[in-house]
Amino acid sequence: MRTPFYQYDLGILENTLKSIEECTQLHSNWHVHYAIKANANPLLLKHIKEYGLGIDCVSGGEIQVAMDNGFPASSIVFAGVGKADWEIDLALKAGILCFNVESEAELDVIAERCSALGKTAHIAFRVNPDVDAHTHANITTGKAENKFGIEIPMLLPIIRKAIDNPCFIFEGLHFHIGSQILDMEPYRLLCQKVNALQDHLENEGIKVNSINVGGGLGIDYVNPEQNPVPDFKQYFSIFESDLKLRPGQQLHFELGRAVVAQCGRLVTKVLYVKQGTIKKFAIVDAGFTELIRPALYGAHHKIVNLTSKGELQKYDVVGPICESSDVFGKDEMLPETHRGDLIALLSAGAYGEVMSSQYNCRPLPPAEAGKF
Ligand code: LLP
Repeated sequence: MRTPFYQYDLGILENTLKSIEECTQLHSNWHVHYAIKANANPLLLKHIKEYGLGIDCVSGGEIQVAMDNGFPASSIVFAGVGKADWEIDLALKAGILCFNVESEAELDVIAERCSALGKTAHIAFRVNPDVDAHTHANITTGKAENKFGIEIPMLLPIIRKAIDNPCFIFEGLHFHIGSQILDMEPYRLLCQKVNALQDHLENEGIKVNSINVGGGLGIDYVNPEQNPVPDFKQYFSIFESDLKLRPGQQLHFELGRAVVAQCGRLVTKVLYVKQGTIKKFAIVDAGFTELIRPALYGAHHKIVNLTSKGELQKYDVVGPICESSDVFGKDEMLPETHRGDLIALLSAGAYGEVMSSQYNCRPLPPAEAGKF
């Protein structure tokens, strides 16, 4: 067996998609766009498409992959602070649902490309709501100091500029406050901000067709086996109760991690067990090239030994890469571990495979469907 590899349990993905469907099906004006940045593996995209989700993209490459996997352009929204001209052209030619525009400078360039190509663009503005998502600093996006979106005090003249330009069809407002959010309070705050902004724009005579509240719902990295499906009910009910939509308004969501994290795991083999003076190391054949979240964010993915059932012992589980940050877990209690044992790093379906790299000239690992 070639290791390491990503393994996807499509049954877990199905259950997750069913739960999303149950929570949203009564709202014909709600649209869930899967944030394809979390995982673009065709095995998963096939199921996600079958459940009728649209796609949220942040690059031309993602737009291309989404379309290659059968998602209609009319289901694609496109965010990102640095859209290159070729990416804008690709999106305009494809006829995507909406550009989530992040600055006035970007608006000007989209107008230029619309004129050059003889196209019109549906646009929403990504608003920086200055809401603290209380998550890891590297994955907080909706605070004033973050690079994302347009700050509320600067918004009105930019909206007017878009409305005055026949290249554009102004659709509405887009927000995304961060990722791995488990406390629902920031979403309530977001709803309040959206409500206030809607009142303000209404007073200014501006009609908003759609509100996009982004994604960010977190998952249980501590007990993934007990909680394979996130609490979508709690999440969606906040928007049901706290967001004041106007008649006819469409509401968009962009969930990534919550859709795919728990259906994926990284399976790796123990190469060596090494006894130091104070530590015992289980050295595995996967490293941060296959799962960078621990090294990049200090994240912890639950580690299980799939082979051994022996007595619990303490190990630092580390990868083979020549960097001290190539560590998956310190002082992990695992059954007595031997060379050749298979180890799984759980909850790796989101931001695992897509963030893999070939550092140290390592080959990219394969992926397969399987049952956990
Ligand atoms: N919409 C926008 C505009 C985004 O920037 C993101 C994620 C999402 C939606 C989806 O967020 P989610 O539902 O997956 O939280 N690599 C990091 C996460 C980065 C998220 C970036 N933006 C990690 O591994 O934790």
